[in-house]
This record gives sequence, C-alpha cells and structure tokens, in this order.
Amino acid sequence: MRSPGRIQVVGIGPGSLEDITLRATSAIAQSDYVIGVSTYIDQISSLLRNQKVIKGAMGEEVQRVKKAIELASEGNSVSIVSGGDPNVFGMGSLVLELLAAQDGTIDVEIVPGVTAVNAVAAILGAPLSSDYAIISLSDLLIPWADIEKRLTSAAESGFVIALYNPQSRRRKRNLARSIELLKKHRPHVPVGIVQNGTRPGEMTAVTTLETLMEHEAIIDMHTTIIVGNRESFVWKDKIITPRGYQRKYGY
Ligand SMILES: C[S@@+](CC[C@H](N)C(=O)[O-])C[C@H]1O[C@@H](n2cnc3c(N)ncnc32)[C@H](O)[C@@H]1O
Repeated sequence: MRSPGRIQVVGIGPGSLEDITLRATSAIAQSDYVIGVSTYIDQISSLLRNQKVIKGAMGEEVQRVKKAIELASEGNSVSIVSGGDPNVFGMGSLVLELLAAQDGTIDVEIVPGVTAVNAVAAILGAPLSSDYAIISLSDLLIPWADIEKRLTSAAESGFVIALYNPQSRRRKRNLARSIELLKKHRPHVPVGIVQNGTRPGEMTAVTTLETLMEHEAIIDMHTTIIVGNRESFVWKDKIITPRGYQRKYGY
C-alpha cells in the first residue's frame, strides 16, 4: 500500500501571475493533482505541466475537499488552489475541518497568498496603514444580523474597513444596508473601489459613501471596497491613512 500523500492548500494571489509567491508556484509544480474552480485554474494555467487537473464549481467546496482527501489517501500530492489567501474566506479552514473530523494521517500544508485587500490597497495607495477589519457582505454562510453587528462595531471603533463579496447579481440589498450603517459613523471618509485588481480589466474609483452607488457598474463579486477612517484623506488619486508620524514627530 502507498503511504498517505499530502494536501497543500495553495493561495494563488489576487490574479496576476506576478503576485503568486515562489512557495505557491513550487507547491503547484510538485503536485500530482491540482483542484480548484475554473477561474482559479485558468489563473494558473501557465504554471501547469503534467499535473492532473480537476475543475469544480462554486458551491461544491465540500465535494472538492473530499476528493482531495481521497486522492491524498491513495498516496498523491494534491494542491487545492484558493484565490488570494486560503485563510481569508478561502479553502484553508474547510480542508482542516474535514481532516480533523477524520483524524487521519494525511500531511497538510497551508501555503499563504496575497489576499485581495493587500493587492487592492496597493492599487489605491496606502489606505490600510492603521488597524483595519475585513468584512464579507455575503450572508450565505453567516447570518446577516451578525454581519450588521460587525460592521457597526468596526465603524464605531475607527477601523478602516475592507468589504469583500460586496454584491452579486442576486444579492444587492446587503451593500445598500451596509452603506446606510457606515454613513452613520463616518459620513465624509474616502472610499476606494477596485474591481479585478491586478487582473485584465482592472477598474478603480475613489469616492465617498454618499456617492458610492454611482460606481455600481464596477461593484460585483470581483470587487473589494475599502472604507477609510476619519483620518484617511485623498491626495491626487491615492487614499492615505496616516500611521501617526505627523502627530508624534511632525514633518
Ligand atoms: C470568497 S472571497 C475570497 C477571498 C480570497 N481568499 C482572498 O484572500 O483574496 C472573494 C472576494 O474577494 C475579493 N477579491 C478577490 N480577488 C479580487 C481582485 N482581484 N480584485 C478585487 N477584489 C477581489 C472580492 O471581494 C471577492 O468577492
């Protein structure tokens, strides 16, 4: 019998090949199987050589992980590719949860990646330089009431807030409601929108919560929105959140 193989959950970054880490590239190169949704497999297609590829659909995450565990149990090295970073609304926890439930002997490694908010922040300038919170507006796996509480707490606490999964064709209400909540605490802060950051068709806008929906054409499931805090400001087309050097040392 072959010894159990291994599973690597590989963060492949936000889109551009230049933003994939060397560690992720080498994990993919050393795999017998690469498993992921079509978008992510297409994103890394130029890195694929002899690996067998299994493409899945959104919503079939559990089946994909079970397949990876089956293949690894047969002695294969399997990469599950996850957009951005596997720990940020990615595949990392699901893989570990299912392995923990089986309590087996398969080796597992989480390979970190550049998460969308880091790529998007760099495009927008330096909006994240203070404490920040990332909140997903998708209520598929989390009750909306909890998301509202997190939005309100983050807004009250002065965190810069990054919104993932802002809206889909079928889910529009959550973004509108979030804007309402956020406006109560920070009416005049800069807001950055990036769609398809680092990918072909990248689009950006710098706006405010008041005028955010004027840019709805670039707000979908490939968009991240960064809402500045009261100290954030705009210079040319860049959003800057000061770290506090001016306050402490002057310049
Ligand atoms: C299910 S989450 C996965 C996040 C991913 N694990 C990461 O670390 O970036 C998908 C959301 O990430 C954001 N996103 C991912 N890639 C992006 C990109 N290239 N540009 C802008 N936003 C992106 C969008 O908000 C999208 O709805």
